Amino acid sequence: MCSESIDFLVPESESNGTYVDATFGRGGHARKLLSVLGPNGRVIAIDKDIEAVTEARRLGVEDHRLVACHGSFSDIHDHLKTVGAEHVDGILMDLGMSSPQIDDSDRGFSFSKDGPLDMRMDQTGSMTAADWLNDASVEDISEVINRYGEERYSKRIAHSIVNERPLRRTADLVAAVAKGQARSSRGKHDATRTFQAVRIKINNELVDLEKGLIDGFNALKISGRIVVIAFHSLEDRIVKRFFRTLTHKPAIPRRIPIRYEKSKISAGVVSKALRPTREECERNPRARSAVLRAVERLL
Ligand SMILES: C[S@@+](CC[C@H](N)C(=O)[O-])C[C@H]1O[C@@H](n2cnc3c(N)ncnc32)[C@H](O)[C@@H]1O
Repeated sequence: MCSESIDFLVPESESNGTYVDATFGRGGHARKLLSVLGPNGRVIAIDKDIEAVTEARRLGVEDHRLVACHGSFSDIHDHLKTVGAEHVDGILMDLGMSSPQIDDSDRGFSFSKDGPLDMRMDQTGSMTAADWLNDASVEDISEVINRYGEERYSKRIAHSIVNERPLRRTADLVAAVAKGQARSSRGKHDATRTFQAVRIKINNELVDLEKGLIDGFNALKISGRIVVIAFHSLEDRIVKRFFRTLTHKPAIPRRIPIRYEKSKISAGVVSKALRPTREECERNPRARSAVLRAVERLL
């Protein structure tokens, strides 16, 4: 959905506006964005991942319309201040992990390849997945696996993790999940949900998303747009609910006096949940669960 996201983000051709690619990754979207901007257009590229930011800096040397920032999009106000921008014309968030993060076993995101149990998107972050799993209480681990992984065997898996400590490698976590699930799921193991949960916890993903959406929307100019691509239901629920509060009139009890502006809709829908076509999923199986939503600021 790369083309669709850029079409929604930049409705007029040759725009000389300022845009934020809040999740640069390897710059697929940023390159496409640069290709539709005019000579005075500007792209502020943000990523938590140092390797992604190194690539963004390299692109910024080739194309001076792009400037790179390291850190979370939840700190968008600080990033904008640093580069001397206040309000922007559009923000793109393509959430989740990049292909290089998943494919590099040293990053510890993949349960199908053994590697250090790291899972930090920001390599300068202090807590790895191993640090947390080897220290947290069984209750905290169970709560995270249940809430962020929606895993029905969260308690058994949490007990198994605590019994198997210390965990150092992704293979140790896979083995602990398998032991935890074994008694309940007739020998079928699946570490997907536990890996997702631990990754969300280590990277503070949902908290960052909530703050990034609010602060990002406040940084938009009137008529500015925000486009978000989510990859699982927990992310998409947050985006959907936030966009709903912007695009619907607030429910105000009758006879409660409020200021006129507070009773108005603050954004219009640009795109409701848009999913990739079958061809795109065949070309890129990782796109299967993607959901794109976009709104435009009205007030
Ligand atoms: C799906 S990839 C983006 C791919 C990119 N659109 C491209 O075309 O190459 C997601 C990227 O977002 C980054 N990321 C995730 N959460 C972030 C956050 N809160 N702040 C900044 N970057 C984040 C990840 O490090 C990863 O590089």
